[in-house]
Amino acid sequence: MLFITSNKGKFKEVKEVAKIFSIEIEWLNREYEEPQGESLEEIAIKSAKKLAKEIKEPFFIEDSGLFIESLNGFPGPYSSYVFKTIGNKGIIKLMEGIESRGAYFKAVIAFFDGSEIKTFDGIVYGEISREIRGGGGFGFDPIFLYGNRTFAEMGDEKNLVSHRRRVLEKFFSSLKKQA
Ligand code: IMP
Repeated sequence: MLFITSNKGKFKEVKEVAKIFSIEIEWLNREYEEPQGESLEEIAIKSAKKLAKEIKEPFFIEDSGLFIESLNGFPGPYSSYVFKTIGNKGIIKLMEGIESRGAYFKAVIAFFDGSEIKTFDGIVYGEISREIRGGGGFGFDPIFLYGNRTFAEMGDEKNLVSHRRRVLEKFFSSLKKQA
């Protein structure tokens, strides 16, 4: 099965979960332009449709985002842009003085089976920390608290509970059912 991403951290996590399901993942390290959209589903479907014009074999892509509840779900579908511009430091600053810290990561997979596109989702709830903590993971991991550790402090344990793990479980089980 082909997984298209230019994010090495994502590929590594996907490959590890795939191993549990005895599914072989091939990495197509390719950057593609992400269209704008109001939801991760809309963005993932648009991207997959575009890629399916060129790539004829089955593939999947994954699009994720961080949704902060007191900021009405910001940055959500704009997570990548916000990470590149203000980053983890900027999010902590934005949240200064805000007591309610609830947030979730959501991951959406768009799977092209050779003829149509299907989507799956996975969510993990946590909180935005008050400082950057931990050296593992990538992206917003150092500010996402799951219990009393950030994802960046959890090492491979992140892979047991993350939004990516949850969406992949749904996706891989559906593949196994069809096989
Ligand atoms: P995308 O799915 O690659 O568009 O990711 C959107 C943004 O969310 C990027 O800035 C990623 O670094 C960040 N992101 C995606 N997944 C995770 C994760 O598992 N942990 C932390 N940040 C993530």
